[in-house]
Amino acid sequence: MRGVNTDASLVASLEHALTDPHRPDLILATGDLVQDETRQGYERFRDLLGKPGIPVHCLPGNHDSTDVMQSVLSDAPFRFCGIGDYPPWRLILLNTRIAGSDGGFIAAEELDRLQQALTTHREGHVLVALHHQPLAMGSRWLDTVGLHNADEFLAIIDRHPQVRAIVWGHVHQASDRLRKGVRLISTPSTCAQFLPEADTFTLDTRPPGYRWLDLHPDGTIDSSVVWVE
Ligand SMILES: [Fe+2]
Repeated sequence: MRGVNTDASLVASLEHALTDPHRPDLILATGDLVQDETRQGYERFRDLLGKPGIPVHCLPGNHDSTDVMQSVLSDAPFRFCGIGDYPPWRLILLNTRIAGSDGGFIAAEELDRLQQALTTHREGHVLVALHHQPLAMGSRWLDTVGLHNADEFLAIIDRHPQVRAIVWGHVHQASDRLRKGVRLISTPSTCAQFLPEADTFTLDTRPPGYRWLDLHPDGTIDSSVVWVE
């Protein structure tokens, strides 16, 4: 895929994370897991990511088959979309995939589910994860395939001060911003990266990468990106 052996780069990224002195408590996979959308591909992902025995929360991207992904990645330690409770934190994973489109959209029932998951967790902290960027990345081609109803999504976020962070994949680059007190974070791909702020599709020379998220009990977050040479 774009000059990268994605199986090898995923294995290398996973091994890098698992051998860190601070072993991860869970894995968050923010979409575009299997480019060819085959059952065999998702089973391979399941066999690899299931090995460490820690929870794996995943959500679909534009390059995923929602049905196949859900059928292969719904049993423990996998969790497809839904909620993950790690008191005082709640993770809310959203499905932004639209069939036949590279851009994203959150359907009405998914917005209702977000609203409900926030209403029932007012006291703790919340991290929302989705595939498509809810804010412009400053990259002309990439921003045509972001979250098309970001305004609706952010209006709900703005009404819930317990939301501490929003995390997404899709953009194959690292970014970390603050908007109205909420951390807005994108993560690099374990495959090839896209050049930030490019007007047209351009690959970056950075290697595969992944991101650490350290969620503290007081609601603050430490986060760093690892590039896996
Ligand atoms: Fe994507």
